[in-house]
Amino acid sequence: MTTADPITGQKFSGDEMVDQVAIFFLAGHETSASALAWALYLLSLDQSAQARVASEAKAASAEGDFTFKNLSKMPFTRNVFKETLRLYPPVPMMVRENLREEIFRERRIKVGSQIVLSPWHLGRHQRFWDKPDVFDPDRWDRPENKKPAREAFIPFSTGPRVCTGAGFAMVEGVLLLAMLVKSFDFKTVDGEIPIPAAHLTVRARDGIFLSVTPRGHAHGTSETQIT
Ligand code: HEM
Repeated sequence: MTTADPITGQKFSGDEMVDQVAIFFLAGHETSASALAWALYLLSLDQSAQARVASEAKAASAEGDFTFKNLSKMPFTRNVFKETLRLYPPVPMMVRENLREEIFRERRIKVGSQIVLSPWHLGRHQRFWDKPDVFDPDRWDRPENKKPAREAFIPFSTGPRVCTGAGFAMVEGVLLLAMLVKSFDFKTVDGEIPIPAAHLTVRARDGIFLSVTPRGHAHGTSETQIT
């Protein structure tokens, strides 16, 4: 409200600021929460990846709190977050209407047709990814993944209506994941297998149940539902 737009010179009014904050909550809360919950589930299934995140987080925050500048010291944690967005994209599909006639894979698409774009299917498509259903955060460092990363990874959509919070989400998600895993040990709970369900975002049908204990302590019996 105090910073003028460099082009128009206008500042936000009170109502406009309320709008911005509401968008932050609506578009930015459930999406990030969904990604973090699935990331913790995937790390509970893969204890060696979880140990790598914990040690990376510990080393990166050795000189104090987690801040933006620590991000570059956590490449593996970032890969874990990206791999989660590939396997469980919080926005599983988007709808677009085409403004002009197009040919898609030899099919004529009329003006005004509804086209469903699915980050979920693209992220798990075997034509793009090697072993698509496997949680493999290191794949993001392998050169053969540059092409699918460019062509088949759209958890934030793409083009003119791309998620305006994508940069923020990639900072927030990686830092929160590192902070949580540095402090807590996450394990799966016997018999609790979350079933993904597409609501507005990809939630687990009955929630995600994990056992959460302070890192370094023996695991007790406490179970926590995190979504
Ligand atoms: C992991 C976290 C997030 C994911 C996966 C995500 C995903 C998306 C996707 C797929 C869209 C396009 C939807 C469509 O066109 O139908 C979108 C739009 C949007 N997102 Fe995000 N988002 C995330 C976090 C955030 C955050 C943190 C904010 C705000 C701070 C935010 C604000 C927005 C806004 C304002 C739009 C609408 C943009 C427009 O239509 O011009 N998102 N997001």
